[in-house]
Amino acid sequence: MALHSKHLLGLENVPKVDIQSILDAAVSFKEILERPIPKVPTLRHVTVVNLFFENSTRTRISFELAEKRLSADVVNFSASSSSVSKGETLIDTVRNLEAMKIDLVVMRHPMPGAPQLLAKHCSSKVINAGDGSHEHPTQALLDMMTIRETFGNFEDLRITIVGDISHSRVALSNIHGLQTMGAKVAVCGPPTLIPRALEKLGVKIYYDVDEAIANSDVLNVLRIQKERQEDGLFPSIREYHTLYGITRERMKNASRELVILHPGPINRGVELDGEVADGPQSVILQQVTNGVAVRMAILFLLSRGEGGRDELGS
Ligand code: CP
Repeated sequence: MALHSKHLLGLENVPKVDIQSILDAAVSFKEILERPIPKVPTLRHVTVVNLFFENSTRTRISFELAEKRLSADVVNFSASSSSVSKGETLIDTVRNLEAMKIDLVVMRHPMPGAPQLLAKHCSSKVINAGDGSHEHPTQALLDMMTIRETFGNFEDLRITIVGDISHSRVALSNIHGLQTMGAKVAVCGPPTLIPRALEKLGVKIYYDVDEAIANSDVLNVLRIQKERQEDGLFPSIREYHTLYGITRERMKNASRELVILHPGPINRGVELDGEVADGPQSVILQQVTNGVAVRMAILFLLSRGEGGRDELGS
């Protein structure tokens, strides 16, 4: 089944059936990735441009791998070495790329709403790979795949997102996606890093991390987004770690079933201690593996019927 939207711009208003389709297809693609030759011809006639205006390790490489595993033609665009540095606008840049006959744009941009702008003014399909502090839908979907692998489903699962919620695109996409799937979503952090408006979305707010740990099945731990926040939102990194850091000591009070996620990059010793990040309750590298499968699923479902094949592979 194709998705209800031509683009994947965020998870707000994405129906449950579409999230289910993406997660189910990702399971099949993960099996393909475990084969001796992890490649299928599914997107052989599809051209994808990866347009990154912001740094990335996981998302950029995982999209490129997903595209190559599906046999798409791939072009990587870096803003610093392009004519954007000479003053060309985003829309002009993409219209010029489209004149070279591309099908799909994967874009990361520091401006919230940039992918929506692109989708409005260009004819290609657009996948949001993170827009400022707004949404990061593919990250949330790979988080959800990892949670589903552990627990089987989302119904009434207690998932708490810990850290800098105000500046996090991962938090918002997770809240939308997980609530759609029936999970109970909470956030935890200092009051200065949590928008009060989240209560209106039905999100529980914890200011005490030990209370959050005691009442959660999953902790999704976020980094402090120094690059997006003004100074003075908390006294110091050291104090943040003391009050909100997920440490081995704190984990002694957690249930053995508590699962630790982190989207990366991790600032070890700040939001998460290395011993916990590398410990038995961490599924952080499983998230990274699932990122390739989830992105293959999204590329496949968005390309269905237009250049892309209808079956997953062979
Ligand atoms: N999780 C995530 O988006 O990581 P990158 O910034 O390295 O892509």
